[in-house]
Amino acid sequence: MAKILVTGGAGFIGSNFVRRLLRDTDHDVVNVDALTYAGNLENLSDVEGDGRYSFHKADIAEFASIEPVLRETRPDSIVHFAAESHVDRSVHDASAFVRTNVVGTQILLDVARMHDVGRFVHVSTDEVYGSLGSSGRFTETSPIQPNSPYSASKAGSDFLVRAAHHTHGMDCCITRCSNNYGPYQFPEKLIPLMISNALAGQPLPVYGDGKNVRDWIHVEDHCRAVQLVLENGVAGEVYNIGGNSERENLHVVRKLLELTGQSEDLIRFVKDRPGHDRRYAIDGAKIERELGFVPEWTFEDGMAATVDWYREHGAWVDRVKSGAYRSYYETQYGRLD
Ligand code: NAD
Ligand code: TYD
Repeated sequence: MAKILVTGGAGFIGSNFVRRLLRDTDHDVVNVDALTYAGNLENLSDVEGDGRYSFHKADIAEFASIEPVLRETRPDSIVHFAAESHVDRSVHDASAFVRTNVVGTQILLDVARMHDVGRFVHVSTDEVYGSLGSSGRFTETSPIQPNSPYSASKAGSDFLVRAAHHTHGMDCCITRCSNNYGPYQFPEKLIPLMISNALAGQPLPVYGDGKNVRDWIHVEDHCRAVQLVLENGVAGEVYNIGGNSERENLHVVRKLLELTGQSEDLIRFVKDRPGHDRRYAIDGAKIERELGFVPEWTFEDGMAATVDWYREHGAWVDRVKSGAYRSYYETQYGRLD
């Protein structure tokens, strides 16, 4: 049994990871989250009573906020999910991205070293590699060429984690995963936004020509891969994680319309995202060979299960949407008629 500190555990992937650790291991889990617009403790209401689980509201970008949590809880390992995570928000204003993703990661590394934390798993993204043309896939040795303020801030954090390993000998691993979908994803990202709009009979905003490609992975597969890296990853190594499910955005949107029983008339082509990366695709050979990871969810089963989840959790979506989400939505899209 160990004590695992998870940052960003009230967000989408972090909350799925916390639930997984409590279900599948005997570890104690310390959830640290600043509860930004994306942090929602309702995502973990089912584990609140678990004696192995505790929540601490703290900001990783404030030493005086995060340091006492580590001093008090003394974790064996850290899995670092906390971040500003939405590309479109980083286009509007990158400052929070630099603060949390870059400064926050360094402060967390400093505090982890101060308190002799062992393994530090840094959860990053394939977006640090930039954009692909119509062929090829990202490997762990692809050049780091981030194109958005979000991916640039994540690349900065990857370099800081790499430096902590090389300079201070910290036991760090980095994971770089493709686009996630599944339960508890904030409805600003493509899949939950399209599902919630389709279920409400509202227009579906597709950027540009809709032919951008993402490699979709179910959040449960991503969390399983992160757990494998936590347990068996080699210090100093990077592991790409992919879903073997490359799809054009329009294909995804049409599939979701079919699953929600709505008409393609709801599709609206809107102005493209500035600097919009064309294609992401992951070569997952390393994590398969070294840690035995292959994704289990097919895209079709994953989409169907996710639509069912959002259908059954309308109250969750309503509560999320009635908050800060509305004013952000109008800044991003204006009114769609
Ligand atoms: P999310 O936006 O749903 O959750 C982020 C969480 O971090 C929120 O709970 C938020 O409150 C918390 N947080 C933000 N700033 C903080 C701060 N200063 N201190 C403490 N907590 C703070 O994000 P997500 O989609 O769950 O992504 C989690 C991680 O996985 C991120 O690091 C992201 O870069 C990475 N990732 C995401 C995807 C994806 O498709 N969503 C893919 C690959 C990698
Ligand atoms: P997103 O979920 O924001 O993830 P990322 O930009 O990190 O890959 O977007 C996924 C794809 O969907 C991306 O090509 C942008 C596109 N997209 C739309 O077409 N419309 C939307 O409203 C959103 C949010 C995304």
